[in-house]
Amino acid sequence: MITIATDDRVFILTGSGVSAESGIPTFRGSGGLWRNYRVEKVASPYAWARDPALVWDFYSMRRRVAAGVKPNPAHFALADLERKLGDRLFLCTQNVDNLHEQAGSQRVLHMHGELFKSRCDTCDRPPFVDDASYERPAEIPHCQCGGKIRPHICWFGEVPYDLDRVFSTLGECTIFAAIGTSGVVEPAASFVAQVAGHARTYYVGPERPVNVAIFDQYFEGEAGKVLPGLFVLE
Ligand code: OAD
Repeated sequence: MITIATDDRVFILTGSGVSAESGIPTFRGSGGLWRNYRVEKVASPYAWARDPALVWDFYSMRRRVAAGVKPNPAHFALADLERKLGDRLFLCTQNVDNLHEQAGSQRVLHMHGELFKSRCDTCDRPPFVDDASYERPAEIPHCQCGGKIRPHICWFGEVPYDLDRVFSTLGECTIFAAIGTSGVVEPAASFVAQVAGHARTYYVGPERPVNVAIFDQYFEGEAGKVLPGLFVLE
């Protein structure tokens, strides 16, 4: 149980494990996406320059998978916590699906982007909602400016989004909980080390992440089973 006092500020970091029970594969586990796809061929600026059709095949497939799933009890537990804590809860996800929003979370920071948004690779038109499939034989979509429309995803070699807001919120939190993330991808993997001096730190998941030693407490189990009832308000 994690007790939240009236003056606590909670930072939640979620990873692909939180969506696993909904049917979205993780990246590194058995059946994980990176077991079947080469990252540099489908999720990097190099891939986009070399073969954008292959990149869109990959993200169209991921859109199709994500469109067919529903939030699980872990997403609902976090949405419920947001209703109780308001802006004392900060939900930062590495996930690009929209299952937190579907469960009712209203203020989700997607540091690795959003699967159902696209943007121009050339002009500064803001990212826009897009659930289309551009799987071949479909053409690669183009912007009015002539640039190519790309997924609104942070690829390997790119900088995650909204990091200023993430780091300032990390500086203020008194409780930090990471859920369903293996602790290997930076900068998210180092968030726990940054808050360790001023926040209580917790990890939830069926396996120990590589950075488990930095956490104060490890709750072993699937997020959908552990999260409901885990947080108790004082
Ligand atoms: P990983 O595939 O590296 O780790 C998934 C974690 O989820 C593992 O630690 C599993 O033990 C855990 N897990 C599996 N089932 C779970 C369940 N039911 N409940 C809770 N945890 C469970 O995925 P991430 O850590 O999310 O980035 O990966 C981080 C980033 O690497 C992703 O955002 C993505 C990827 O490359 C980009 O694409 C930029």
